[in-house]
Amino acid sequence: MTQDQLKALVGRAAIDHVVPGSVVGVGTGSTVNCFIDELAKITDRIAGAVSSSVKSTERLQALGIKVLEASEVESLPVYVDGADEIDHHGNMIKGGGAALTREKIVADLAERFVCIADESKYVRTLGRFPLPVEVIPMAAAQIARKFAVLGGTPKLREGVTTDNGNLILDVAGLSIADPAALESEINQWPGVVTVGIFARHRAGICLLGTPQGVRSIEF
Ligand code: 5RP
Repeated sequence: MTQDQLKALVGRAAIDHVVPGSVVGVGTGSTVNCFIDELAKITDRIAGAVSSSVKSTERLQALGIKVLEASEVESLPVYVDGADEIDHHGNMIKGGGAALTREKIVADLAERFVCIADESKYVRTLGRFPLPVEVIPMAAAQIARKFAVLGGTPKLREGVTTDNGNLILDVAGLSIADPAALESEINQWPGVVTVGIFARHRAGICLLGTPQGVRSIEF
C-alpha cells in the first residue's frame, strides 16, 4: 500500500470516533484532508467543525461542512489530527504544516485527541523530524541561538508565514528523551508562540495505518 492509501485508510477509520450530533475538532494536513473528505459524507450526523487552519476551513466549507469559531464552543468530545511523529506514549511532534498553534488551541478544547497517521510516523523517540516552533518575528534569531545551545540546528522555514502572522523555526538534531519537560522549557522562552511538542496535549488514541490495516493504539 502507498503512503497515500494508508492516509486514506486512517482518515476513514477516524469517522468511527466522531460522536454523533457533536461538533468535531479538525486538524490540518494531508492525512486530515482524507478525514475531512469522509466527514463530508456524514454532514447530517454532525453539528459542525472547529478548524485548526485556514486551509482546513476552506476544505471543510467547500464540502458543505459548517465551521464554527473556537470561541463558540466550550468543549469538543473529539479532536482528529495527524502528526509528524508520535511516540509509544502518544507524545507527538506537530507543525509540519505550520498550523501548530491553532492545532494546540483546538486540541486543548477537546476531551480526546485522535491521532491519525501512517506507520512511518510511529517512533520510539521523538526528534528525527525537525521540531517546528512558531515564533514572533523579532525574537527569531534570539530563539535560534537558544536552540543551538541545546545542541539543535535551527533553520527558518523560508517563505512561510503562519495563519497568525508569525515565523516557523525547524530545529533538527534534537533527541527528545523527555517531551513534557522540553515542551515546558521552550514554552518559557520569550517570543515562542508554540512549540511543536504535543506532550501536555498528547494523543489518547492513535489510528495507525499499516499494510495489514488500521492498528488502534490506546495510550
Ligand atoms: C500540521 C501538522 C500535521 O498534522 C502534520 O504535519 C502531519 O501532516 P500530514 O498528515 O500531511 O503528514 O502538524 O501543522
